[in-house]
Amino acid sequence: MKILVTGSNGLLGQKIIYGLLGDPLCLIPGDVREKIRSEVQIIACGKGENRLHRKDGYLYEQLDITRKSEVENVFTKHKPDVVINTAAMTNVDACEIKREECWAANVTAMKYMVDVLGKWGAHLIHVSTDFVFDGMKGSAYDENDKPNPLHYYALSKLEGEKIVMQSKLKWAILRTIIVYGVVDGNTRSNLVLWVKNNLEKKQKINVINDQFRAPTLSEDLAKACIMAAMKRAEGIFHVSGEKTYNILELANIIADFWHLDKSYVNPVTSEQLNQPAKRPPRTGFVIEKAKKILGYTPRSFEEGLKIVDHQLKQ
Ligand SMILES: NC(=O)c1ccc[n+]([C@@H]2O[C@H](COP(=O)([O-])OP(=O)(O)OC[C@H]3O[C@@H](n4cnc5c(N)ncnc54)[C@H](OP(=O)(O)O)[C@@H]3O)[C@@H](O)[C@H]2O)c1
Repeated sequence: MKILVTGSNGLLGQKIIYGLLGDPLCLIPGDVREKIRSEVQIIACGKGENRLHRKDGYLYEQLDITRKSEVENVFTKHKPDVVINTAAMTNVDACEIKREECWAANVTAMKYMVDVLGKWGAHLIHVSTDFVFDGMKGSAYDENDKPNPLHYYALSKLEGEKIVMQSKLKWAILRTIIVYGVVDGNTRSNLVLWVKNNLEKKQKINVINDQFRAPTLSEDLAKACIMAAMKRAEGIFHVSGEKTYNILELANIIADFWHLDKSYVNPVTSEQLNQPAKRPPRTGFVIEKAKKILGYTPRSFEEGLKIVDHQLKQ
């Protein structure tokens, strides 16, 4: 069995590769881990050079998903049974401004992928976002709730989902929320590292006090993606941390965890922050389906912070 992972230099992509290689932090059950070890060939694909520290145990291909010929050549060369697509343009405000670039990575590339994978009927696991929802429901979203994207990134991710759903492939779409974790070389930031790094430097940060999210540990999400691949799961799955927090509360928890001075946290409203892309006020997911079918077992935010802390010290 061949599993090809796109975006393998990104936060989730790296964790999936390490999870497939047996990282115990991904909490893959022993029998599945053994099956992966003995039966799965791993193909990691990233834009540019391989940035994973570990270079053995898998093949690496350079792949820019916005280049049709590269998608066709790399996919056809390996004919994967399962593709886990984590590659995307993920900077929400950049997507609002660089709309063509965003569409190319999040929508047109999906068309290239489903077209070539249709030739041998691969299974596509695609990763999407809570931002497909408008955040006005007032409680956690389940897989049957109706999307209503508020900004261009969200619209592009929803269009990407539609291409996957309308394809003739077997597919699963895993939607997730604020992913945090540590990547090799510390080349990527996220909410946790942004708060920690700025407070350590005693730099004031403006933190939103009127938005609510359920943060997701990258290793937990990687587990869900790997389980979806190994179980050949189909349909939409909501995959996030169990608990939804006010973002200001999250910043305070992060500050307390590392004993940092919270006086540098400056609470602001969404209106005051005035980001280029308008964010949904409240998301959060009902994650029962992922728990039941994928064996998804999210850790608490506090447990996640302990893992991040440990990784930063390595
Ligand atoms: N992070 C979050 O909070 C969050 C929340 C909801 C949903 N998601 C979704 O989760 C998935 C994984 O995100 P992530 O957190 O791992 O983000 P990430 O760290 O930004 O990873 C995305 C990866 O995609 C790669 N990429 C971008 N354009 C590409 C292209 N044209 N060809 C090939 N690769 C390309 C990036 O390459 P470079 O490293 O070279 O830039 C990066 O490695 C995405 O689908 C995202 O939409 C993320």
